[in-house]
Amino acid sequence: MFLSCDLERPGRFVPDEDRPAQPRCQLREAAPGIHLLVPAAQEGLVRLGVAFTDRRCGGPGYGRSGRNPALDQLPFGDAVHLDAAYRPRLAFPSPGDKRRVAIGKGDEVLVPPYTFIATASAVLRVGATPVFVDVDDNWCMDHRRIRAAITPRTKAIMPVHLYGNVTDMDPIIDLARKHNLYVIEDNAQAFGGAYKGRKTGTLGDVAACSFCQNKTFTTGGEGGMVTTDNEEVAWRCRSFRDHGYDVRERLRLLEMEQKLPYIHTMVGFNYRMTEMQSAIGLAELERMDNWNMPRRKRNAGILMEALAEVPQILHLPVDTPERQNGWYVFPITLDIDALTCDMQTVLAALGAEGAPFWNVFWPQCHTEKAFTKKRGFGDSGFPFTSKEYAEPESVDYAKVEVPNAVWHQSHTFTCFAFPTYTEDDMRQIAHALVKVIKAYSK
Ligand SMILES: Cc1ncc(COP(=O)(O)O)c(C=O)c1O
Repeated sequence: MFLSCDLERPGRFVPDEDRPAQPRCQLREAAPGIHLLVPAAQEGLVRLGVAFTDRRCGGPGYGRSGRNPALDQLPFGDAVHLDAAYRPRLAFPSPGDKRRVAIGKGDEVLVPPYTFIATASAVLRVGATPVFVDVDDNWCMDHRRIRAAITPRTKAIMPVHLYGNVTDMDPIIDLARKHNLYVIEDNAQAFGGAYKGRKTGTLGDVAACSFCQNKTFTTGGEGGMVTTDNEEVAWRCRSFRDHGYDVRERLRLLEMEQKLPYIHTMVGFNYRMTEMQSAIGLAELERMDNWNMPRRKRNAGILMEALAEVPQILHLPVDTPERQNGWYVFPITLDIDALTCDMQTVLAALGAEGAPFWNVFWPQCHTEKAFTKKRGFGDSGFPFTSKEYAEPESVDYAKVEVPNAVWHQSHTFTCFAFPTYTEDDMRQIAHALVKVIKAYSK
């Protein structure tokens, strides 16, 4: 079924057959909240595609009439749970900012080493080099270490809200402002988290969210979202994900009638989501606030309470009114020196109790061969090997000093607070944990 936008009430859709009196050619760009002809599930694609923090979103859409390209600008508040009142307070704060968030070859981007490699790969993807900044005991980038890592090449800071723990953003944003840097949130693991009343994903210039299979919610195994309130960036994202189509120009295809619909103004690729993913995502979104997140919170709360007074536990997730956890997973830092065994023995014992626990998921990024062996793009190894575009000291990853991240690697393990777990499951998990730690305590 095709739906057309109710032009009087932008963003509201009615089935085409109910609108015979509304000739398509009357459709117009009623900025900023227009448009038309979105297949039902495609609405989901649009809503989950690229978002604005000003409650609008858009994407290319695919008109099936042959004449009418689908256009889309939908109210988006529900979809990403964004705080409409919020405007970032960054170096480039104005909504609708036309400046590009431009990061490319020769630039450096500060990232934590304690994260999935994709955080650093994203930097390489544009020809820039990642520079690793140590983490604090919340497993997130330590703002106290940022200043020392800034060089004339630094363009952006990319904090990761690891495990759902929300990074302490204000000091990072202050530093970014001072040094004229962009802030890009890696929000892959914290969808649903909040910092000082604002959702993660709305705190920097741009944010990326992952909907892959093990994330807080998924769009059927793969998927993701970019959030920004910078219009120029949003348009570029829409275009980039769609082979570089001039998506903005396509909004006017009805006027253009005979013009070629496939107009490309930049290099782009296919990062589109499918309609099935959209449908799944929308369904998941509906139960985000009434099932997914409340149950994660409840389950995590049971662990927090049970573990709060265990002396061998050094760090638990951060969850305060100011930094509300997204509860992706539940990390625990253990004082392994206070036990008679090593971490692997603890995990094996927990496994024997039937409790689900995991080691840290990833090696430290800077120890991955992609970096230590300087395996960049193609045979040339760009950008690591570029004399022109990479600072030799910055890409000498063997020399990276991130002692706290390395320490956490051997002292932290993860538990889960999945919404599918019952309260009883959680109590059993907590019981197993306390039992094993007690059994091995010195
Ligand atoms: C911190 C972090 N950043 C980025 C990604 C990449 O997400 P995707 O695989 O959906 O591209 C992940 C995925 O696991 C992640 O955990």
